[in-house]
Amino acid sequence: MLTKDAEGTAGALVDSPAPLETTTPAGKLSRKITAVHSKQLQIYIDGKFYSEADAKISVFDHGLLYGDGIFEGIRFYNGRVFRLEEHLERLWDSARSICLEIPMSMNEMTEALLETIRQNELRDGYIRLLVTRGIGNLGLNPAQCKRPSVIIIASTIALYSPEIYQKGLTVVTCATRRTSPGALNPAVKSLNYLNNVMARIEANLAGADEALMLNDAGHVAECTADNIFVVKRGQIFTPPIAAGALRGITRLVVFEMAAELGIKITEADITRHDVFIADECFLTGTAAEIIPVVKADGRLIGNGKPGPISARMIARFRQLTRETGRPIYN
Ligand SMILES: Cc1ncc(COP(=O)(O)O)c(C=O)c1O
Repeated sequence: MLTKDAEGTAGALVDSPAPLETTTPAGKLSRKITAVHSKQLQIYIDGKFYSEADAKISVFDHGLLYGDGIFEGIRFYNGRVFRLEEHLERLWDSARSICLEIPMSMNEMTEALLETIRQNELRDGYIRLLVTRGIGNLGLNPAQCKRPSVIIIASTIALYSPEIYQKGLTVVTCATRRTSPGALNPAVKSLNYLNNVMARIEANLAGADEALMLNDAGHVAECTADNIFVVKRGQIFTPPIAAGALRGITRLVVFEMAAELGIKITEADITRHDVFIADECFLTGTAAEIIPVVKADGRLIGNGKPGPISARMIARFRQLTRETGRPIYN
């Protein structure tokens, strides 16, 4: 049963919060996260809705104390949630891997998620879904945590300016390696993203838009929150999951679109060299969607402009996001 918080501050008009901006040393805007809304968001926490100011969790939650928890980032377009089932399956896989029992069924989660979007009267936006280990003591033992908490935030997100989608972005290889599967397996979408944050800081310091992360073998794994693809002589290549790539939902859509468009796509270990000599390169992620890369470590990729296969992928992806997905309002 979904209820509103007692104070019922839903709908109170407030100023839009200032956009969070990250600037490179050169002062160029590299990434912009904007939450655009004219009233307080309604946030779901464990079966109840709270207005933004009142949406709080305990400082003893191990999600905060240890990054012990999991999350998903999901987009909805035109009144439909894109690839909801795949996101929930990955959430449940992450949970199983870290021995966390999600305190609701997939159907209940679906309803909670749809209801959160409805409460915020949104048709296009981004959902951040978190399941934390819950409240425990100051020791890290998860056995102390009685019940995981479920948090759902529905808002909007714009990682990059529309201009970057047309011009393409720049990446630099960072020194921070993707965690190996023998440590925290990158296939788990956990609340512990400090490794990626460190990589992101390196990109910021280098004045690049994104960081290319290698695994311990020196193969390309992915970027800080996106999977990577290169195009060579009309074929698409992407690192396998075993190289340290997240099993990205957008990545999966690229496989489907490539099959549909008759473009050969192969999972293969790739190196920086393969990125440098690629005809095209693009990144994929729920938040970033599909975005071309035109420069890596100072080398132009192809002719330094987004290529035709990237453009076809972007066009078909936009069509799919507009036309498919789980309806929210009916
Ligand atoms: C590390 C990492 N790689 C790749 C992705 C892209 O995955 P998806 O397309 O499912 O959003 C994400 C974002 O979820 C991510 O955090």
